Amino acid sequence: DLPKSDVIVLFGGTGDLAQRMLFPSLYFLDADGFLPEGFRVIATARADMDAEDFRAQVHDAVARRAGGHPDRTVWNRFAARLTYVGADATTKAGAAELKAAVGDATAPMFFLALSPSLFGRVCKALGDSGLATPDSRIVLEKPVGRDLASSRAINEEVAEVFSEDRVFRIDHYLGKETVQNLIALRFANTLFEPLWNNLTIDHVQITVAETEGVGDRWPYYDEYGALRDMLQNHMLQLLCLVAMEPPADMDPDSVRNEKVKVLRSLRPFTRAEVAANSVRGQYTPGVVGGKEVSGYEAERGQKSDTETFAALRVDIDNWRWAGVPFFLRTGKRLPERRTQIVIQFKGVPHSIFGATAQADMVANQLIIDLQPDEDIELVLMNKAPGISQEGMRLQSLPLSLSLLKAYSGPGARRRIAYERLFLDVISGNSTLFVRRDEVEQAWTWVDGVAAAWAESGMAPKPYAAGSWGPAGAFALIERSERAWKD
Ligand code: BG6
Repeated sequence: DLPKSDVIVLFGGTGDLAQRMLFPSLYFLDADGFLPEGFRVIATARADMDAEDFRAQVHDAVARRAGGHPDRTVWNRFAARLTYVGADATTKAGAAELKAAVGDATAPMFFLALSPSLFGRVCKALGDSGLATPDSRIVLEKPVGRDLASSRAINEEVAEVFSEDRVFRIDHYLGKETVQNLIALRFANTLFEPLWNNLTIDHVQITVAETEGVGDRWPYYDEYGALRDMLQNHMLQLLCLVAMEPPADMDPDSVRNEKVKVLRSLRPFTRAEVAANSVRGQYTPGVVGGKEVSGYEAERGQKSDTETFAALRVDIDNWRWAGVPFFLRTGKRLPERRTQIVIQFKGVPHSIFGATAQADMVANQLIIDLQPDEDIELVLMNKAPGISQEGMRLQSLPLSLSLLKAYSGPGARRRIAYERLFLDVISGNSTLFVRRDEVEQAWTWVDGVAAAWAESGMAPKPYAAGSWGPAGAFALIERSERAWKD
């Protein structure tokens, strides 16, 4: 087992992710007493900056996230942990400077908030300089590659320096409270598991809708698109947690073995069926949240074949899920922010109610809302209250866990997903991180989708910003007489 980490070295320390998420997460952990005594935070990037200016920058970043000035005592404690090293870590001189800053720490955590094209070189420098001690660990931000081949190449380079138990590949969705709650919901209740299969479940929907556009992230995004940016990682992770068999325990390998089994069971896309089972879209100008916004190509500054929306029908070829399609859709510039999983149960096998009441009937649904609000609802049929001329009427009503209330009591704060993940890297627990075979298996399947798109010449269909994607996304699900949840 790895000992607790004693220092984090954050590469890309002046970057957007570090400022928006990573420093605030570390600060909040410190505020709640989760950082080990003496734990230090070393940020590094190429820019020259003195430590005071850097602290001021982080102070502002924390204040933005906290919605006001950070607590003075906590801030002072946190600031005392913070240093900045302006260096290019891939050079000998740069690595030496970092080494001096790390000093006698024995279990450093190297967090690469960098372009994946630098992962290999930085790892090599960490190895050559002796910074990569036996108890050190490396944290990689997604994307780990753009396809199977590039992902393998990166994983190889990393493996030359860090053994797999010391590699932590982040998928920040796994740090989200409600995503972990999926595991609790499924395996801490007796109620659902006997029903969690093709005898009772008709289909599953997973929606990750964003109102934001791509904006100035296009240099990255244009090479990836929705399939590689969202589906390969976050959405497949959600699918795995819904579909996996019960793991033996919460150990990293127990959980990840089950996820890999699901990924291996995903039916590959073929050229013949790709048009029926998937839709690509790209937003054109439109209105989102009452504001006029431009189209993707205007942001990009030229024509582009990149999809900003994807909808897929995914089949899982195993005993549990045979015949239960999973419908996945994700996109930018959709009408609302919504991350939601819908487990759609089958209808009753026989109705004892008359025609009128029968018309009221809807099949049960388990709706798991992850964003913007966190909630779990079980939609059940009831008798409509009161009396009516036609005899008994029925209505559907949700039984709600109202997580929003549970999480908003005094002192409660919605945590940044990275807080949980940092804590796990510090203690060396990789259950919520993506194992090498897992990321490679996901790429294998995604490569198949991309190849089928390319071979059949499927260009993205335009959709107006503020709509739910191209018409084909509705046809995709309606083809089997089902519908997206409103
Ligand atoms: C990132 C993607 O991984 O996840 C972004 O690169 C996306 O394009 C983001 O906007 C969504 O994360 P969240 O936590 O806001 O749902």
